[in-house]
Parts: sequence; C-alpha cells; structure tokens
Amino acid sequence: MALRNILVVPDPILKKVSASVAVVDDELRALMDDMLETMYAAPGIGLAAIQVGIPKRVIVMDLARESEEPAPRYFVNPEILWASDETAPYEEGCLSVPEIYDEVERPAQVKLRYLNYQGETVEEAAEGLFAVCIQHEMDHLEGVLFIDHLSRLKREQAVKKVKKQARAA
Ligand code: NI
Repeated sequence: MALRNILVVPDPILKKVSASVAVVDDELRALMDDMLETMYAAPGIGLAAIQVGIPKRVIVMDLARESEEPAPRYFVNPEILWASDETAPYEEGCLSVPEIYDEVERPAQVKLRYLNYQGETVEEAAEGLFAVCIQHEMDHLEGVLFIDHLSRLKREQAVKKVKKQARAA
C-alpha cells in the first residue's frame, strides 16, 4: 500500500468526469487500498479516486467513530436508484478543499447500487451521515465539489483561502 497525493482546488483534474470501471480486479483493489490508507492518513471519512488524480468511479469511506473498530467501505460504479424529496442540511468539508466547511442541503435518504471490494453488486439504503457522504463523494465522480453547491461568492472565497494556505505552507 502507498499514500497518494490528494489534489486540492483549483486543480482542474478535480473537474473531470470519472469513467465507469469495467472490472473489479486486483489492480483496482490495490488502488482502493491506497485510497483508504490515504484517507485515514489525511484524516478523512470519504475519498473519491479523482481526488488522487485517477478518473475512475471509485469511492472509499469509513464512518466509524474514533472509539469504534475501523469499518472501511468501497463503492465502485455507484448509482443512486432513488432519492427522497425530503432534504437535510449538513456542514460538509472535503480533503480537496482543506479547512473549509459549509452547509449543503441534499436528499435525506437515498437508495444505492454499487459494486463492492469483491465486485459483487450491492443495493443499500442510506440516511444520515452515510447519505451525506455518499452523495458528496458521488458528486466528485461528476467533477462537482461541495463548494459548487454554495453561492459564487462563497465558492470564490473558499478557493482563495485554500490558495493562500498553499502559499503559506
Ligand atoms: Ni470531497
């Protein structure tokens, strides 16, 4: 396993639409292992492949609390089969937009279909933080960041702040 470099705004690669994965094989599992390690090291709770520069429809996630055992999850070619009309706000952040947090409103419940680490098809309902996180990560597959859901002013301020941090580092 190896740590990958996480891209941050305004890197244009983050705007790319990711391509479907043809087969879940050992090469893809190696990518997912690297992504998980990179996410844990950051630390973060979700990461899409495009955030490490790989335009594939792959997401890793772990929503376990610090006091709980790690619970890694893998989503390949995820699709939203259904989304509730009811929405809920959540203060989101993103490893590609470091130190910026703001409220985004999304459907409160979704139903998903994806391939897991073994390449098996899974259908699953999500609500709460899981629903927030999977929708946030699936946005990445379309080249959309959570700041794209904010006003233009807030988005520009966020990018400016991240650039300033990068210069200071
Ligand atoms: Ni993100």
